[in-house]
Amino acid sequence: MPDYPTHEHDVLIIGSGGAGLRAAIEASAAAVKVGLVCKCLLGKAHTVMAEGGIAAALANVDERDGWQVHFADTMRGGQYVNNWRMAELHAKEAPARVRELEAWGALFDRTPDGRILQRNFGGHKYPRLAHVGDRTGLEMIRTLQDHGVHLGIDVHMEVAIVELLKDGDRVVGALGYDRERGQFKIFHAKAVVLATGGIGKSYKITSNSWDCTGDGHALAYHAGAELLDMEYVQFHPTGMVWPPSVCGMLVTEGVRGEGGILTNKDGKRFMFDSIPDNYKAQTADNEEEGWRYTQGDRNARRPAELLTRDHVARCIVREIKEGRGTPHGGVWLDISWIKKRIPNAAEHIKRKLPSMYHQFKQLGDVDITREPMEVGPTTHYIMGGVRVNADTQMSCVPGLFAAGECAAGINGANRLGGNSLSDLLVFGKRAGEHAAKFAKESKAGQISAAQIEEGARSALEPFDRNVSAGQFEGPYQVQYDLQEMMQREVGIVRRQDEMERALEGLAKLWERARRVGVTGHRQFNPGWHTALDLRSLLTVSEAVTRAAIERKESRGAHFREDFPDKDATFGKTSLILRKGPDGAMQLRREPLPALPDHLKKVIEEMK
Ligand code: FUM
Repeated sequence: MPDYPTHEHDVLIIGSGGAGLRAAIEASAAAVKVGLVCKCLLGKAHTVMAEGGIAAALANVDERDGWQVHFADTMRGGQYVNNWRMAELHAKEAPARVRELEAWGALFDRTPDGRILQRNFGGHKYPRLAHVGDRTGLEMIRTLQDHGVHLGIDVHMEVAIVELLKDGDRVVGALGYDRERGQFKIFHAKAVVLATGGIGKSYKITSNSWDCTGDGHALAYHAGAELLDMEYVQFHPTGMVWPPSVCGMLVTEGVRGEGGILTNKDGKRFMFDSIPDNYKAQTADNEEEGWRYTQGDRNARRPAELLTRDHVARCIVREIKEGRGTPHGGVWLDISWIKKRIPNAAEHIKRKLPSMYHQFKQLGDVDITREPMEVGPTTHYIMGGVRVNADTQMSCVPGLFAAGECAAGINGANRLGGNSLSDLLVFGKRAGEHAAKFAKESKAGQISAAQIEEGARSALEPFDRNVSAGQFEGPYQVQYDLQEMMQREVGIVRRQDEMERALEGLAKLWERARRVGVTGHRQFNPGWHTALDLRSLLTVSEAVTRAAIERKESRGAHFREDFPDKDATFGKTSLILRKGPDGAMQLRREPLPALPDHLKKVIEEMK
């Protein structure tokens, strides 16, 4: 066995965002030895960037809310290709997870009578997002960490995993390296939970942090797991477009939840131009304030800006493409207009949206209490990920679990805002519980010296290539070209010829990535880290592209100019990707499991 430090755990969790921490807490509570590995520092995972809130049918603001309405909204938002069991569990269990977070010390905003306040968000029929101003993710991570720190979890910070270790079919650990010192580390575990978040860094414009490189998706895929729904990439309608250094940074949907309106360069509220059939448009009874009913229920007041993200993002693209965009290629988002409606509006905005106020003031010199923001779509989230069992979160690889954004199913073709934070809590808990159970019922597997040696050799290969002599390319240009290409060819609006071009481009980028070289040594070497990230980025980009080519219809976040309508056959089909015996990516179609009668009834009743 190579002489690398070896850590023994019953359950190894990879990722320290909401899902990873919640899984670690649950596994620890089951009295197993838990290790948590994170690529970043603890407390810096991308969950801290989540702003607007956690969706849970607490019914604190509108007592008509309940799990059934939340379930029906989630299924409708996902265009009915969601894993219905995950959507059901999520809607039923989210309220308990939010109350538990409160009991652990999370300080939510309050209703006048002291309950957790909930705000409006896109696609949710009633105000449903429990929030802490616009810093909900930060409060969630702070609370989970404070709670978890007392449970004896071993934390390995700034460690990147390069490979999952297997004993036969089963996953028995992981090989990683310490990003600061460049030393390899072996993690031996009976069960592994992937909670690595998203893939946003495979696109040029993204709200995602530097570490959202699809590592969990790629590790699982290379270990034999299946990837599902990879064609569904969510473009959040509102990211900053100016200045260029912060292009893509999230502008929370909470701005629209608090009454923010979208206008084009002519001052027109363009969102009223096309309201989809499944969200009924009714007449405005208060034209001046611009509120319209869009969900059939005259008491559920919804502005058209709060239609689902896929739709809003496409309307923004349409305005920009047709020449009605703002000076820096976006549209206007205005919250300052609410001064017509409420007293002390500036104070109200600063209290409800403190991060947005500071973000625009400090980064763009814009005072959002007086001026509109310039915004445009940004790559935000992937609905696709590791295919897991809805109840246990285990993949088809024994001992390998996944939760949060790197797992697929709950969101179908499009995620509703706020559903990701509740997803992290609901399925993080389930993954931790079932990984601990698996660990207790299993013997420790064998780790293979040969696999570790090969993993380390391949990770070190970029050092053998002399970039300075000009024979090899550095990793940054390859990463940039990939992001540029994915943005251009597999973006918000897709077409067969463009995506086929992307597939050819990916083959060339794979070739280049296999030959990238780095200079210097293994101690904190960002070039080396980027060279290794390329393997994940290319794997997930290929999966997105192949699935998007195969889905010849438009559904949710996947919009095809050449197939602009939904196709009922595709609506009954999932696309699944798996590594073939020859190492190539294979895609197959599978029928979606039918919705059981009791849930069909719920959806009917909610309509
Ligand atoms: O707009 C937002 O605050 C994002 C929330 C989410 O993606 O759930």
